[in-house]
Amino acid sequence: MAKPINEHTHKVKTVIVPAAGLGTRFLPATKTVPKELLPVVDTPGIELIAEEAAALGASRLAVITSQRKKGVLGYFAADRQLEENLESKGKTTLLDKVRHAQHLIEPVEVIQDEPLGLGHAVGLAEQCLDDDEDAVAVMLPDDLVLPAGVMEKMAAVRNRLGGSVLCAFDVPRDEVSNYGVFDIADSDTGDPAVKKISGMVEKPAAEDAPSTFVAAGRYLLDRQIFTALKQITPGKGGELQLTDAIELLIEQGHPVHIVIHDGRRHDLGNPGGFIRACVDFALAHPAYAKGLRRYLTQRLKQDD
Ligand code: UTP
Repeated sequence: MAKPINEHTHKVKTVIVPAAGLGTRFLPATKTVPKELLPVVDTPGIELIAEEAAALGASRLAVITSQRKKGVLGYFAADRQLEENLESKGKTTLLDKVRHAQHLIEPVEVIQDEPLGLGHAVGLAEQCLDDDEDAVAVMLPDDLVLPAGVMEKMAAVRNRLGGSVLCAFDVPRDEVSNYGVFDIADSDTGDPAVKKISGMVEKPAAEDAPSTFVAAGRYLLDRQIFTALKQITPGKGGELQLTDAIELLIEQGHPVHIVIHDGRRHDLGNPGGFIRACVDFALAHPAYAKGLRRYLTQRLKQDD
């Protein structure tokens, strides 16, 4: 039984983690291994997201998954035989690592029968919410946003300005066409890192982009999003798009702000982004940093 909402530091009880996508950019590995279970050094993306959700103070992780990706939820289950084995050998550090995910947050499985889009996946999580939840967080497990803490700032903005709050990165103009780009309505929010938006354009040409602020996979959405998700029709790629539901909310006069995050992000959904994340994490890992740095320095010299 989840705690009442007022016992949650940032008034967020549920974090929705859409993880039912096909992961085609990572084939052939994702034929049998869900991309959410690929290890960034030694920890799968799904555990990194569960840590981020727990740090926000949420108590429920609504993981949207599919029949062929059951392993994503399975990752949170206890493995008695393995734990007993490690315990009997006194391998306590490994035992703690193995048990870590089980104790972070309560995972709830929601099955998406067909990959009908991110909007469809998010909409399915409504069934998990309690009556006292006015807002819900969405964290995309293949988008690693660093350093941690942006969701806490987004929650503070919702507290102050109401409505929904999205995470944004400021990127060079020649990169905007890879992303959803925000149209800024009002920059005068009393904080230069917070702006009100009037809309979003999906992957525009650089010269047509309304700004250089692009969407990242972190959303704090008012519960009204579920009504909007029921009103939209299939959009880009024939899928129900979360951005279309957010656009609809804006059209209906619902305030939507962005928090511009001053940090890094890694797209774990494609091999190039995944490799960078592994290098980044390994260079910060006490066991691997020194050796990797030495190897990379020597290896890069061979290419000069
Ligand atoms: P992506 O487009 O990044 O993931 O969706 P994908 O569909 O797995 O990737 P590719 O393009 O085939 O390589 C963003 C997030 O939304 C989830 C994905 O799992 C990912 O976390 N998603 C997407 C769903 O849960 N259901 C869907 O129908 C679509």
